[in-house]
Amino acid sequence: MRKDWWKKSIVYQIYPRSFCDSNGDGIGDINGITSKLGYIKELGADVIWISPVYKSPMFDNGYDISDYCAINPEFGTMQDFDCLLEKAHCLGLKIVMDLVVNHSSNEHPWFLDKHDFYYFLDGKNGGPPNNWIAWFGGSAWTKDEKSGRYYLGSFSPHQPDLNWENPALRKAVFDMMRWWLDKGIDGFRLDAISFISKQDFSDGDIKKKLPNGPRIHEYLKEMRSEVLSKYDVMTVGETGGVTVEEAVQYANEDGSELDMVFQFEQQDLDGGETFKWNDRKINLVELKKVFVKWQNKLYGRAWNSLYWCNHDQPRIVSRIGNDGEFREKSAKMLAACLHFMQGTPYIYQGEELGMTNCPFADIDEYRDLESINAYNTIVLDEKSISKEDMLRFMGLKSRDNSRTPMHWNDDINAGFTTGKPWIKVNPNYREINAKDQVSREDSVFMFYRKLIQLRKSLEIITRGNFELLLPEDPDLFVYTRSGVGGKLLVACNFSREERAFILPQSFYGARILISNEEINMAEELVLGAFGLAVLTIS
Ligand code: NOJ
Repeated sequence: MRKDWWKKSIVYQIYPRSFCDSNGDGIGDINGITSKLGYIKELGADVIWISPVYKSPMFDNGYDISDYCAINPEFGTMQDFDCLLEKAHCLGLKIVMDLVVNHSSNEHPWFLDKHDFYYFLDGKNGGPPNNWIAWFGGSAWTKDEKSGRYYLGSFSPHQPDLNWENPALRKAVFDMMRWWLDKGIDGFRLDAISFISKQDFSDGDIKKKLPNGPRIHEYLKEMRSEVLSKYDVMTVGETGGVTVEEAVQYANEDGSELDMVFQFEQQDLDGGETFKWNDRKINLVELKKVFVKWQNKLYGRAWNSLYWCNHDQPRIVSRIGNDGEFREKSAKMLAACLHFMQGTPYIYQGEELGMTNCPFADIDEYRDLESINAYNTIVLDEKSISKEDMLRFMGLKSRDNSRTPMHWNDDINAGFTTGKPWIKVNPNYREINAKDQVSREDSVFMFYRKLIQLRKSLEIITRGNFELLLPEDPDLFVYTRSGVGGKLLVACNFSREERAFILPQSFYGARILISNEEINMAEELVLGAFGLAVLTIS
């Protein structure tokens, strides 16, 4: 039987550029990560997902790879990587690499001499082959002056899409994956993997055209049989645009494709016609609908990731919690709300401290390609949103909010670097930092630690049934888990007002497993602002 240790794991995601700088150049690096393994161990996570550290011209901070088997010098050397892997393994921590094979960098040698590894198409009516707009703005097609043809870069011209239709490309990718696995890494997070099968090049919205192409499952099955089946590793697919029905195939319990999906339905709830550039808030009733669907439809059939944050999302306390008066309390409530569901939880660096969005003053403080391109197009070219509004929207939604340096302590630059940081440090690091959090019993860090310990010790969290209560309540997110030795009730108040509800009779006499405030147990459960209580009964 295939092992499924990753169902009981907790993944900690590191964005290396912003985690810890060991050599004072202002950019986080591999030796910096190695120096903090003890911190991750103390938190209790057991798998580390490292965003790309491969050789790259860094147009998209490493999600544009120019050599899959080399480390970018600003992150260190392959020797540093080997040392990280060895030390992590000694501590019982697994390392999952971020694999970007929907596209490479346009500086990859393949792009220079293997055009059949990419999509080079003839233009139409003197222009590109179709009207697709790239994820990060502009046409998805760039003219190659030499051949007169156009190549596809569905994210940006610096990130040409790899042609998975070509068996030689697939072989090259699988060889490279084996090379890493033979080194002893413990799995892959597969970037934009739902986009790799492309056959339909007709006009339309690229966000609808790319996901779930006709051969996607064939490719993933081939990857499983050619590579993954030979190693005891985990794979998580970044599966944008994948519905819950499709996810059953991507992450099927039969183990024929990936081990779990990492999907975006909950993240898209505050999007809209201007994509993320607005000030819409996530509606709790809608959010619950999304969670209940994924919890129930995958149950016993496929496996999901649980996450609020990553390097592409703003900080969760700022997004749906409270980053002022109730910051710590809401951070704990949000953590518990997620961590008691079924799936593998992901913690993004700094989330365990309750880190917040960053007050960027102007466009010159941003570093993210997506944000800067959007600003240039929307504010400068199209003039469809005013500068003031766009900066406000970026303050709420830009990816840079989560990419500011990790707060280690209250020393200069939050202890992240002794040099000049590549991106602004959030000025609130003097109050919010790991040194303080680790030393305080009631901190967000300690709360995450308890959640992890509970998941490790209570089988019901991994395997129990999920049932949502009060689906239409605009403030309360309440659910039960049951079926594996007892029952849990998780009650979260997403509002600033006190809220109460009558406990189901089956929870009379229950005791508190964990909470973020004093709870008086009675038939009516009263939760203060952003209050949380998890009840247990056997
Ligand atoms: C998804 C990654 O998470 C994001 O950071 C990146 O920009 C795109 N894929 C393109 O690789």
